[in-house]
Amino acid sequence: MIFCICHRISDRDITRAVREGCASFDELQDETRVATACGACHDCAHQSFHAQAAAGGCLSGRAQAGHAALQTARG
Ligand code: FES
Repeated sequence: MIFCICHRISDRDITRAVREGCASFDELQDETRVATACGACHDCAHQSFHAQAAAGGCLSGRAQAGHAALQTARG
Protein backbone atom coordinates (compact mmCIF):
# COMPACT_ATOMS: atom_id res chain seq x y z
CA MET A 1 0.00 0.00 0.00
CA ILE A 2 1.33 3.43 -0.90
CA PHE A 3 1.53 5.71 2.15
CA CYS A 4 3.23 8.69 0.60
CA ILE A 5 1.82 9.79 -2.71
CA CYS A 6 4.28 12.66 -3.03
CA HIS A 7 7.32 10.33 -2.97
CA ARG A 8 5.61 7.02 -3.83
CA ILE A 9 6.64 5.31 -0.58
CA SER A 10 4.86 2.09 0.33
CA ASP A 11 4.62 -0.01 3.47
CA ARG A 12 7.16 -2.33 1.83
CA ASP A 13 9.61 0.56 1.49
CA ILE A 14 9.21 1.32 5.19
CA THR A 15 9.67 -2.35 6.12
CA ARG A 16 12.79 -2.55 3.97
CA ALA A 17 14.24 0.64 5.49
CA VAL A 18 13.68 -0.68 9.02
CA ARG A 19 15.32 -3.99 8.13
CA GLU A 20 18.26 -2.11 6.67
CA GLY A 21 18.77 -0.25 9.93
CA CYS A 22 16.63 2.90 10.09
CA ALA A 23 16.41 3.38 13.84
CA SER A 24 14.24 6.49 14.01
CA PHE A 25 11.49 8.18 12.05
CA ASP A 26 13.90 11.01 11.22
CA GLU A 27 16.32 8.48 9.74
CA LEU A 28 13.47 6.93 7.76
CA GLN A 29 12.62 10.37 6.38
CA ASP A 30 16.27 10.95 5.43
CA GLU A 31 16.37 7.58 3.66
CA THR A 32 13.00 7.61 1.90
CA ARG A 33 11.79 11.25 2.03
CA VAL A 34 8.44 9.96 3.37
CA ALA A 35 6.31 12.76 4.87
CA THR A 36 8.71 15.48 3.75
CA ALA A 37 6.49 17.23 1.20
CA CYS A 38 2.80 17.88 1.93
CA GLY A 39 2.87 15.86 5.17
CA ALA A 40 -0.51 14.19 4.64
CA CYS A 41 1.09 10.75 5.09
CA HIS A 42 2.95 11.60 8.28
CA ASP A 43 0.66 9.87 10.80
CA CYS A 44 0.25 6.68 8.76
CA ALA A 45 3.95 6.50 7.97
CA HIS A 46 4.87 7.20 11.59
CA GLN A 47 2.55 4.44 12.83
CA SER A 48 3.84 2.00 10.25
CA PHE A 49 7.46 2.80 11.11
CA HIS A 50 6.92 2.17 14.82
CA ALA A 51 4.99 -1.05 14.17
CA GLN A 52 7.80 -2.32 11.92
CA ALA A 53 10.50 -1.21 14.35
CA ALA A 54 8.75 -2.98 17.23
CA ALA A 55 8.37 -6.18 15.23
CA GLY A 56 12.00 -6.03 14.10
CA GLY A 57 13.15 -5.26 17.62
CA CYS A 58 11.34 -8.32 18.98
CA LEU A 59 12.78 -10.56 16.32
CA SER A 60 16.24 -9.13 16.83
CA GLY A 61 15.91 -9.62 20.58
CA ARG A 62 14.87 -13.24 20.13
CA ALA A 63 17.65 -13.87 17.69
CA GLN A 64 20.18 -12.33 20.04
CA ALA A 65 18.86 -14.38 22.99
CA GLY A 66 19.06 -17.55 20.92
CA HIS A 67 22.58 -16.74 19.82
CA ALA A 68 23.66 -15.99 23.42
CA ALA A 69 22.15 -19.29 24.64
CA LEU A 70 23.94 -21.17 21.88
CA GLN A 71 27.27 -19.56 22.75
CA THR A 72 26.78 -20.42 26.45
CA ALA A 73 25.91 -24.04 25.64
CA ARG A 74 29.02 -24.38 23.49
CA GLY A 75 31.17 -22.96 26.27
S1 FES B 1 1.81 12.20 0.79
FE1 FES B 1 3.69 11.99 1.80
S2 FES B 1 4.56 13.97 1.80
FE2 FES B 1 2.72 14.16 0.66
